[in-house]
Amino acid sequence: MNSIKIFSPATIANISCGFDVLGLALDNIGDEMIIKKINEPGVRITKIVGQKLPLETTKNVAGVAALALLNEMETSFGFEIEIYKNIKPGSGIGSSAASAAGAVWGINELLGKPFNKTQLVKFAMEGEKLASGTLHADNVAPALFGGFTLVRSYNPLDIIQINTPKELFVTVIHPHIEIKTVDARAILSPTVLLKDAVKQWGNVGGLISGLYTEDYELIGRSLEDFIVEPIRATLIPNYYKVKESALNAGALGCGISGSGPSIFALCKGENVAKTVALALKENYKKTGIPFDVYSSKINSEGIKIIK
Ligand code: HSE
Repeated sequence: MNSIKIFSPATIANISCGFDVLGLALDNIGDEMIIKKINEPGVRITKIVGQKLPLETTKNVAGVAALALLNEMETSFGFEIEIYKNIKPGSGIGSSAASAAGAVWGINELLGKPFNKTQLVKFAMEGEKLASGTLHADNVAPALFGGFTLVRSYNPLDIIQINTPKELFVTVIHPHIEIKTVDARAILSPTVLLKDAVKQWGNVGGLISGLYTEDYELIGRSLEDFIVEPIRATLIPNYYKVKESALNAGALGCGISGSGPSIFALCKGENVAKTVALALKENYKKTGIPFDVYSSKINSEGIKIIK
């Protein structure tokens, strides 16, 4: 096999209570990439369709992630990457992660899978560092592993895949404003109050337990964020009104997707997810800001080969 076409999913990082540690992969939103083995060494980004992004390897998140992988092994050959972007950069659903994770996953397949998924997360994080200035793994991990993932530790890197309850769906609203992750991180406080940390880790434990026992009420109760949401909500027009309308329409819980501006709502069943989508549309129309809304089941397999 010398060429591969893949789908790399959009992802939701943080999932309210798990800043920088929790994430999930979406099923029907993502980028496509074609990766080819070529005779010349190195990595070349030959085409990007859908967004204006740098083709220069060292300035492109896919290029940087691919180079991190190739630094770990001697090869006389190299790779060409074409990227078909469906996920807008700065939308909060893991645009850079899809490109970075897709590049390393595809190259690993063409090499005969010398690296495991945790190693691929490490390489893909280099792309995230280029995009946001920080080595965070909560988007690349779910893209690579699928389903829900927990970054139990960054050093050493320890990624745990969490059970995906069968009836869980996500509805996402993406207001068309751009929030750069680097800016959304810069406004956060470096310290937290112990009383807030206590509430936060109670919810992380509750969410993990709810995901394993498929206790939808517990999942819903645990989707609270006392640390990051109060600060970042100020960046998203109408945020608390959207959240209220999602909950009134039957969502289990609702929060900021990654660093925003997208907002996600977890729902039990596809019908509720669709009802929530309608409620969010009605609500956001009033702002005059253009937006997209989509509903998706959770993608439990992660990046995959497509025809
Ligand atoms: N955990 C990261 C943040 C995710 O919230 O800054 C960015 O998508």
